[in-house]
Amino acid sequence: MTALDVDAARDLLAFIHDSPTPFHACATAAARLDAAGFSRVDEAEGWSSGPGHRRYLVRDGSLVAWTVPPSAVSTTPYRIIGAHTDSPNLRVKPHPDVDRAGSQLLAAEVYGSPLFNSWLDRDLGLAGRVSLRGGRLELVKIDRPIARIPQLAIHLDRDVNSKGLVLNPQQHLVPMWGIGKADPDAFRRFLACEVGVDAPDVLFWDVMFHDVDPGRLMGRDEALVSAPRLDNLASCWAAVHAISSAADDDRAAIHVIVLFDHEEIGSTTNRGAGSSLLNTALERITHGLGGDRDAWHRALAGSICLSADMAHATHPNYPDRHEPGHWVVLDGGPVVKTNASQRYATDARSAAVFMEACERAEVPVQQYVNRGDLPCGSTIGPITAASLGIPTVDVGAPQLSMHSARELMATGDAAKYRAALVAFFS
Ligand code: CO
Repeated sequence: MTALDVDAARDLLAFIHDSPTPFHACATAAARLDAAGFSRVDEAEGWSSGPGHRRYLVRDGSLVAWTVPPSAVSTTPYRIIGAHTDSPNLRVKPHPDVDRAGSQLLAAEVYGSPLFNSWLDRDLGLAGRVSLRGGRLELVKIDRPIARIPQLAIHLDRDVNSKGLVLNPQQHLVPMWGIGKADPDAFRRFLACEVGVDAPDVLFWDVMFHDVDPGRLMGRDEALVSAPRLDNLASCWAAVHAISSAADDDRAAIHVIVLFDHEEIGSTTNRGAGSSLLNTALERITHGLGGDRDAWHRALAGSICLSADMAHATHPNYPDRHEPGHWVVLDGGPVVKTNASQRYATDARSAAVFMEACERAEVPVQQYVNRGDLPCGSTIGPITAASLGIPTVDVGAPQLSMHSARELMATGDAAKYRAALVAFFS
């Protein structure tokens, strides 16, 4: 592990800390893009996006950024890195204020597929966005401990260690945030106070819980990163760095990153990977170069996509859950993910492009394939591959505890992953 490895991992931790929700992840990415000379465009306006330009747009919790080389023409292809901004968590319901047994609770709904147990006995903050009367949307981020889901004492659940912990999301995942009788408008008033408006002006919210304990380096020699939301903010972080740091020289492709919301719930939303977001942005980029729809299709024909999402490292306590010929080790470098049923979009053609990028970056590369007797996860890769019709490689950095409120990766893998994405753009 080098000083560069530690710097990269600490920068990743800062990115994650600033990004407790997809909306904040977009704001964090946007701030970094602004600092790197990008300017924001509005989807409802005409874009001035031509040769030499660095641009980005934000659609709610999703972001697209691109850089156009100075010599670009209407058929210049795209080189795309995709990732996702969302992570499994618990979200506040519209009428959240309830009380039971003398405690005030906030009713919450499960988003995606979190490991339920990982949300117990953690001090939880709240973040998201609030819509105010008059059409305003305000981001809110509260990093003080506001709520907690207390675990049932072992004395009242004697079999929990031998039979396993079974949690009903409706009954058992209700965070506590006060003592006494609930007031039916308490949460609205709380949010109004945080945002600095009157309670009746708060019309609705997309607000979710997060662990307030900051991520940190750990282990006997700080070789590990303990943090929330590594899946998939580690990929968003690396993608933002890769597009920002690529030189504006005369390369043959338009660089694009797309950070999608809603991967964890299937991507079929106004801004998920199943939406029009990426296709529309690409078509408009080509249009900005004087291209018509035929030029756009010609540009797509020469394009490639890297779908960046985290990968399962082989768990040292459960090696039997992994394919024995394809162990993935922490600090072993980025991982190419393959699945015969194309739950990962990787094929021989797209994998080779990434393997050569890793060679240029001088980072090792690993191979992941699921055990044949376990169902395989998926990513945005197959969705964008199907909608754009372009070769796509699914890759990630190795991690443990995927979908826990607190995940684990190797400090050294942050820099390796980032270097591989930089090389993909070079
Ligand atoms: Co993911």
